[in-house]
Amino acid sequence: MPKETVTVIVNATGEQLELPVLRGSHGPPVIDISQLPAKLGYFTYDPGFKGTASCHSDITYIDGDKGILLYRGYPIDQLAEKSSFLEVAYLLLKGELPDHPQLQTFTDTIMDHTMIHENLRSFFGGFRYDAHPMATMVGVVGSLSAFYHDSTDINNPRHREIAAHRMIAKMPTIAAASYKSSVGQPYVYPNNKLGYCGNLLHMMFSVPCAEYEVNPVAEKALDLLFILHADHEQNASTSTVRLAGSSGANPFACISSGITALWGPAHGGANEAVLRMLEEIGDVSNIGKYLAKAKDKNDPFRLMGFGHRVYKNYDPRARILRKMCHEVLHENGSSADPLFELALRLEDIALQDDYFIERKLYPNVDFYSGLIYKALKIPTNMFTVMFAIARTVGWVANWMEMVSDPRGVIGRPRQLYDGHCKRDYTPLSER
Ligand code: CMC
Repeated sequence: MPKETVTVIVNATGEQLELPVLRGSHGPPVIDISQLPAKLGYFTYDPGFKGTASCHSDITYIDGDKGILLYRGYPIDQLAEKSSFLEVAYLLLKGELPDHPQLQTFTDTIMDHTMIHENLRSFFGGFRYDAHPMATMVGVVGSLSAFYHDSTDINNPRHREIAAHRMIAKMPTIAAASYKSSVGQPYVYPNNKLGYCGNLLHMMFSVPCAEYEVNPVAEKALDLLFILHADHEQNASTSTVRLAGSSGANPFACISSGITALWGPAHGGANEAVLRMLEEIGDVSNIGKYLAKAKDKNDPFRLMGFGHRVYKNYDPRARILRKMCHEVLHENGSSADPLFELALRLEDIALQDDYFIERKLYPNVDFYSGLIYKALKIPTNMFTVMFAIARTVGWVANWMEMVSDPRGVIGRPRQLYDGHCKRDYTPLSER
């Protein structure tokens, strides 16, 4: 079959170039522009990478216009209904759903790695008492490479696998310890008889002086939230992990950089920002004022939990969470909480507002996840940490795919330089 090309560029001297067109299994075709600078002397400009594919990937597919999200080909709503977080983790890492023995072995392996090195535990006491748990996570996860040297050879597939298992397993332990440290309670060791999410709840909320029983409703809700957050193709944090990893950095350092990128309010920090925004709005009577602020181009205020770079239709994860949010609020009697009433009213009003309709700004996954976390009594400053635990699977899967891809090169974007042209140094005495 002849290679597909497009002729897109003619430079000042009339030269033109046939550029190869690449087609994936799904989604729009991609023009390969890698030879442009060498052949025609142009770079391309695409701030925010709105139309640029940075890699090949087999892991996750999103069709933002149709509101479709597939993990390894499986629709997110089927996984949300029928699967579990660790099964989804296996799928994302290995590419296929496990059979029963494979899932059991994977679950046992992950649960075997939940402990963290005792010396690492002492790190938590070194942060200021009121440190944000995300700040603690960045530091502690980055420091894992100082403890687990035996899994940092990125050219060794077994090292990569062990590092992947360690990160998925230890993230809840680190997250819970960050929380315990922020509330001045003793750290709780993992209990490997519990499930992945049950163990997280146990480490966060049990105290040595009282019996603690994991609430099955909360455990199931967390498991579903984690499935929905597990991967989302080349978002800011995953791209950060890939960029860090492209230099050959060790996996623990790469995942730590992903946590940093996730923290921002335009990305994973939005779930916490939604709650803070609702507290600021305070009352249904103020919604009009805040909607006007969100629409005002001279006001930096944005309606947190609304809009998405890729989804210009309802985010399929938000659709699932919206239903779950209403159920959880109803079940635990929280629907009478004025903050939830305010959120649901805001959702209604924004969905009927021309500004939001025209720009296709729908409530996103973070609008509902924050509300569900609150209903589950997860502290607000832990919302983004919860997201980070789940997304670790996607980061690790993308990192492993990148490291084993023979086409891989170091990520090195170019720039459009707007600074001074060459000028001569003036001695200090003459300035
Ligand atoms: N409130 C008010 N206006 C908005 C909002 C919002 N939340 N989001 C986008 N717009 C407007 C924006 O001002 C622009 O208007 P105009 O065309 O008149 O200039 C238009 O909609 C398009 O916005 P954009 O900034 O070009 O869109 P983007 O793809 O660059 O940004 C976004 C996507 C998610 C960063 C943005 O929608 C946003 O800041 N939302 C609030 C933060 C949030 O909820 N983030 C979580 C995203 S989902 C989970 C995740 O990725 O982690």
